[in-house]
Amino acid sequence: MLAGRSLVEPGNFSVEELEELFNLAERIEKEPWYLRESCRGKLMAALFFEPSTRTRLSFEAAMLRLGGSCLGFADPGSSSATKGESLADTIRMAAGYADIIVMRNPKEGAALLASRYSEAPVINAGDGGHHHPTQTLTDLLTIRRLRGKIAGLTVGFCGDLKFGRTVHSLAKALSRYAGIRLVFVSPGELRLPTYITQGILAKAGVEYAETERLEEVMPHLDVLYMTRVQRERFFNEEDYIRLKDSYILNREKLESARQDMIILHPLPRVNEIAVEVDADPRAAYFRQAKYGMYVRMALLSSILGVI
Ligand code: NCD
Repeated sequence: MLAGRSLVEPGNFSVEELEELFNLAERIEKEPWYLRESCRGKLMAALFFEPSTRTRLSFEAAMLRLGGSCLGFADPGSSSATKGESLADTIRMAAGYADIIVMRNPKEGAALLASRYSEAPVINAGDGGHHHPTQTLTDLLTIRRLRGKIAGLTVGFCGDLKFGRTVHSLAKALSRYAGIRLVFVSPGELRLPTYITQGILAKAGVEYAETERLEEVMPHLDVLYMTRVQRERFFNEEDYIRLKDSYILNREKLESARQDMIILHPLPRVNEIAVEVDADPRAAYFRQAKYGMYVRMALLSSILGVI
């Protein structure tokens, strides 16, 4: 069903298609040999115009585990973008070399544009502060895997909700599940953009609340999604320094949280989760990173049509 399709934002796939993808990812987790050679002879181009560790490595690990091969660049300085080549030209060329393109770009909308010029399917690995759909697949799979369901949960987001693309993508994706409640915790200056609160959540009839106080909402949460303050998207360093340590999750703050709450973070973590929290059984962020590889294996094999 997903064969040949691009993934620019989570809404490109229906909830049912996502369920199938998660079933496949869970099967791969349980039977790591399943689909092992399915992508032999297929080529993935990873074009990273912006830094990445997890997303790029997990895509490469996923493709290599499926028996396929990878090419690309991790540093735009080494690509012809520095010579002034347009994104459309780079993409048209890469689509001639590879069977699938994974791209991260600092400009919002870059992935949509790429998908229009590309003959090969394009997977958005992050476009500026806009979307990060494969992180959302990772987050949804982790929630489903560790909480048994997605519908009906209360999910808290904390940190930089203004610039955090993982938050934008996940909040939008969650709005499609029945009975979901969303709580947004951030400093006033880093609130979720109104195009999401008013434009998407309110229109979809999603119950949501905004606050500056994490302690107040902690006891009500099933999932706590922590995020880093997105330094690279600030216009001046002083604002970043003032806001960067607004929330630091530590053992003490977790005392009022439920025992079955899970703590997620797309990573990289800077200061927002104290290292002492890592030993708490509710800390799920490293498991989450691993599920990201399984879901990308499921995604690549589905889009490449080998399953
Ligand atoms: C996120 C991103 O790039 O948006 N990282 C990731 O892909 N796991 C989150 C972040 O950089 O804060």
